[in-house]
Amino acid sequence: MYYSDEIIEEVRSKNDIVDVISGYVKLKKQGSSYFGLCPFHSEKSPSFSVSRDKQMYYCFGCGAGGNVFTFIMEYENYSFVEALKFLAQRAGVELPQEEYSKEAKERADTRSALLEMNKLAAKYYYAQLKTEGGRQAREYLQNRQLSQETITAFGLGYSSKYSDDLFRYLKMKGYSEEMIIKAGLVNVDEKHGVYDKFWNRVMFPIMDVNNRVIGFGGRVMGDGKPKYLNSPETLIFDKSRNLYGLHRARTSRKPYFIVCEGYMDVISLHQAGFTNAVASLGTALTAGHAALIKRYVNEVYLTYDSDEAGTKAALRAAPILREAGVTTRVIRMEPYKDPDEFIKNLGAEAFEERIRKARNSFMFGLEMLEKGYDLNAPEGKTEFLREAARRLARFEEEIERDNYIEAVAKTYHVGYEELKKLVVKVAVQSGMAAPATKPRQTIRQETPKEDGHIRSQKILLTWLIDREELFDQVSRYVAPEDFTVELYRKVAELLYEQHAKGELNPAQIMNYFTEEEEHRAVAALFNTRIKELTTAGEQEKAIKETILRVKEYSIETATRNLDPTDIQGLQRLMNAKKAVQDLHKLHISIN
Ligand code: UTP
Ligand code: MN
Repeated sequence: MYYSDEIIEEVRSKNDIVDVISGYVKLKKQGSSYFGLCPFHSEKSPSFSVSRDKQMYYCFGCGAGGNVFTFIMEYENYSFVEALKFLAQRAGVELPQEEYSKEAKERADTRSALLEMNKLAAKYYYAQLKTEGGRQAREYLQNRQLSQETITAFGLGYSSKYSDDLFRYLKMKGYSEEMIIKAGLVNVDEKHGVYDKFWNRVMFPIMDVNNRVIGFGGRVMGDGKPKYLNSPETLIFDKSRNLYGLHRARTSRKPYFIVCEGYMDVISLHQAGFTNAVASLGTALTAGHAALIKRYVNEVYLTYDSDEAGTKAALRAAPILREAGVTTRVIRMEPYKDPDEFIKNLGAEAFEERIRKARNSFMFGLEMLEKGYDLNAPEGKTEFLREAARRLARFEEEIERDNYIEAVAKTYHVGYEELKKLVVKVAVQSGMAAPATKPRQTIRQETPKEDGHIRSQKILLTWLIDREELFDQVSRYVAPEDFTVELYRKVAELLYEQHAKGELNPAQIMNYFTEEEEHRAVAALFNTRIKELTTAGEQEKAIKETILRVKEYSIETATRNLDPTDIQGLQRLMNAKKAVQDLHKLHISIN
């Protein structure tokens, strides 16, 4: 469904950000902003700020930021459209209705019938577990050390020994044979007619992200085969786009998921407090799964079975996740078979320990970064260390920074003192607009190196936003097209438009972006603090240099992409180059 910019802006402007966030976070007015404890990372003193003027929020601790849509997306784990619907309802804005074709309407009706039937079936199995006939299943679950609370939370049930119980029940509820077959809850064959797919099994309902039952897994209580029987794929059950346990894991507020193989692994992990566990249920992890995961987290800990199949599956899953922008760590379960057995034998703390050991996001980030460089070649290693130093420079606390410098020096065989010097050097070089943020604990999808040119573009935008009085001077030389990073170009276009109309509206600019990552990047632009320590003269010089760098790189990029037969284009570029020469004499004045 497509929503117009107007309706999106209407919804945004009718939901005051301070009012909305106040419903989630206790805010206190401080100067022109409101401050509170950040809901996206744990902290003791408030670094989460909300601005009524800008209609934006930003956390100086973890870098989370955006407008009211971003907040709801991040807090509720909603997609953009879900957040839009939520806020539209909150403000009483009516969104245009989706218009269905006849065929689409039929599909929608079938879908809802299948959902209803699966829900009825889940309730039915759940009730069976409590009956006399369900005693063996109850004992089975008890033996597997599941608490009543866990059984209820996951809606576990039992399918009776009679082979047409559910079928008759659903017919009694008014569903046609055809529909019941479509729901995947019965089998049909010539000899037996229609009969229940699941019987005499412990039942695991499979839920989608919105807590709707979309299918089942059923386990034999002994050694029968198959061990688990699963619902077939139906109109509502797409195995490559659903993860078992996701409906609970999505609200766990942890920055990563634990991905395992089986139903029981997920349930054991949740029972032990690891409520961020999900499973891909016997099928190999797909790009669909990875995209789904990426909606909620940027990092995954894979805890597949210790056997060869599990190891292979983990090796295959890692690149698929990486492709989707999710970083991966592999936790081994040895000497046990899977997380369920591990936890039963060694307990939650030991599992926690394995997570902790696997998890050093900074070093892990460098490990990933390494792949972009040839560490055996001197230039490669120098470049790599320079980027490492840049990242090290972002640690605000000296002790922490030193600890990491030490670790990096050791891992990459360089002297501690030399590395420290390099860190100081890059810190000074890039000190003009030090990001007000610490990198998040989790590793976000990172470009191998944020090169100087991209940084200049970012800084220039920050200047424009922060010092509107500079706009006319800067825009004489720099146009939105000069920003080579697509995201920045779009922000620049919108900023220039707004400036021309005489009003900057940062929160409206965010409407153009629907991805959380983009919101973060844009929010950072609006919230980077330009250091005040320099004199006006130094600032003028800095701006001038930034303009020059942006301009030069823009021309360089255009030259690289120029079609050699485009004479006019060439002429334009020559003129531009000449103009840049003149720019060296430019004088920017502050105030
Ligand atoms: P496993 O064979 O590793 O079983 O299958 P498990 O999860 O440890 O099961 P328990 O602990 O013996 O109960 C991992 C997953 O593969 C799928 C199921 O989703 C299972 O949870 N599977 C396995 C099937 O779909 N069918 C099967 O016959 C076996
Ligand atoms: Mn198991």
